[in-house]
Amino acid sequence: MKFFIDTANVNEIKEINELGVLAGVTTNPTLVAKENVDFHDRLKEITSIVSGPVSAEVVSTKAEEMIEEGKQLAALAPNITVKVPMTEEGLKAVHAFSNQGIKTNVTLIFSANQALLAARAGATFVSPFVGRLDDIGQDGLQLVAQISALFDMYGIDTEIIAASIRHTLHVTQAAESGSDIATIPFKVFKQMMQHPLTDKGLDAFLSDWEKYKNNH
Ligand code: E4P
Repeated sequence: MKFFIDTANVNEIKEINELGVLAGVTTNPTLVAKENVDFHDRLKEITSIVSGPVSAEVVSTKAEEMIEEGKQLAALAPNITVKVPMTEEGLKAVHAFSNQGIKTNVTLIFSANQALLAARAGATFVSPFVGRLDDIGQDGLQLVAQISALFDMYGIDTEIIAASIRHTLHVTQAAESGSDIATIPFKVFKQMMQHPLTDKGLDAFLSDWEKYKNNH
């Protein structure tokens, strides 16, 4: 499973990118609004840092407008993926983008049928929202596993991005569920690196080394 970061914050992207683990970035209107910067300028900056796919979401609701908006986003850099909501109008737009060779990420996926439709419309990626399903008492990761099994069964090459990741266990379980990618908030990336036994073990190694140095 590959790792994307779910943020529009450049410092967070740079910090995780330096680790060599980052395969792409996802943004959404909420994440961009938090940054309070020009959307297109920020996208150009992100695409200059990360060579993998960078998802940029359209905010129109009609297919024709989504297509126009998406074309402008795609023209910003070759690694832009146009993020489109899972609606009827969104599917029409995905179909048009697919015919024009523009990559798409269909967002706000909450059922297997939505994922199948998005894939058949030509989506490059589908994003089932794990945390938001868990929030309403449904099993978000079970949906990821179901979509993965269906895509395997029918040889569908649309990639699954496990989105709305809230904690480290979601990441492990997304990998176990066959997700191609997990898009992970900065805070969860930091948590993934930590283990109390790693800290304890390193403290012991360093203090033993100090004692050894003092005797030689
Ligand atoms: C996916 O691409 C979305 O940006 C994101 O994962 C949504 O997560 P949230 O439910 O924490 O807002």
